[in-house]
Amino acid sequence: MATPKSSPSFVLLIVITTLARYSISSSLKTPTSALFIFGDSIVDAGTNNHIKSVANFKADYHPYGRNGFFNGPTGRFSDGRVLVDFIAELANIPAIPPFLQPSAKFINGANFASAGAGILSETNQGLVINFETQIKQFEELQKSLQEELGETEAKTLISKAVYLISIGTNDYLHGYTFNPNMQETFSVEDFVGMVTGNLSQAIQDLYERGARKFCVLDLMPLGCMPSLRALNPNTKNGSCFEEVSEIAMAHNRALSATLIIQQHIYKGFKYVHSNFFEWMDKRIHFPSEYGFKDAVNACCGKGAFRGINSCGRKKKKDNYEVCEDSNEYLWWDSVHVSEKVHEQLALELWTATASLPGSYTFQDLFSDFQNLRVEDVIVHEQSDLGFVSVT
Ligand SMILES: *[C@@H]1O[C@H](CO)[C@@H](O)[C@H](O)[C@H]1NC(C)=O
Ligand SMILES: *[C@@H]1O[C@H](CO)[C@@H](O)[C@H](O)[C@H]1NC(C)=O
Repeated sequence: MATPKSSPSFVLLIVITTLARYSISSSLKTPTSALFIFGDSIVDAGTNNHIKSVANFKADYHPYGRNGFFNGPTGRFSDGRVLVDFIAELANIPAIPPFLQPSAKFINGANFASAGAGILSETNQGLVINFETQIKQFEELQKSLQEELGETEAKTLISKAVYLISIGTNDYLHGYTFNPNMQETFSVEDFVGMVTGNLSQAIQDLYERGARKFCVLDLMPLGCMPSLRALNPNTKNGSCFEEVSEIAMAHNRALSATLIIQQHIYKGFKYVHSNFFEWMDKRIHFPSEYGFKDAVNACCGKGAFRGINSCGRKKKKDNYEVCEDSNEYLWWDSVHVSEKVHEQLALELWTATASLPGSYTFQDLFSDFQNLRVEDVIVHEQSDLGFVSVT
């Protein structure tokens, strides 16, 4: 809809933008240069190498990392790099080290993600760094950054940093679908409410510590993982376990609603809405359009669809098979995608348009203030004048 040039609202807009531009020019000059990562195996870059856990939640053995990018296994659940490695590349910052990596430098951020972790502390308890602990570790790091850089500079770093959260799959798989006790106690709706309620609380905790720019990944069609296809009791022909994908969809709807609300009530809160479910769904149904030959079987594993999670376990000689060229496979192992998918998803995320009310693109979060939109500027201006009382 075109606004006539003489309209009062148009004039007001110019006044506001001009004012705002003037007043924010000094405070928002430095571009984002830090990325803090929370979550599970999708984004774990080696955290679990440093904890006691079980083989399921570790990837520090062959053939993980075999594709030649690294010199061997790194703890990433892929044949090579994972999503956040590509995001760091796209944002032009160095790869983000695990917080638990001895003597690592965290001036560009830290990766707290731990394979197997869920949003609920009960999920895989004792075998992972749970989400709550990941946030406590962030608070610890925040304190040491304050000591290292001084109060003001640390505050700037924290508020300009991007917070990428990728978690929830383990709550719905280990924590619910394969946990009869939980299923007896909670309906799907109640369980999703509890999981997303805790996620929302964690986002609020980070916001209260000074975080402003969030990207919370939605969940993929979980029922199409090779392990779930193999376990699908409804069919024996390998179709996706739709009931499980539907739980992921319910989670995603609740997450979107949460982010929209948070963006409304928290001053300066910015978020990227991801669409992992759809991005994966397209690749599952039309693999050849994305350069894949197989979207059903895992490259590495055992049994139907190589859906048994035994990749790299050598207790028995024939414990697993591994494909020749993992670039042809959507799934690297029974539950994790291959490096090529990580790369494509990172690009989808990087280039995605802002599809929900108030959402941003990933590039917006990493860029300077000239890319802020009128809405940001107005909110900023109002808050300076004390019009906005919600904090
Ligand atoms: C968070 O999860 C716990 C179970 O771990 C549950 O008792 C609590 O109600 C949840 N909190 C919210 C805000 O949903
Ligand atoms: C598998 O079986 C289900 C029903 O049992 C059917 O709807 C579906 O089309 C079948 N898929 C394939 C690939 O044959």
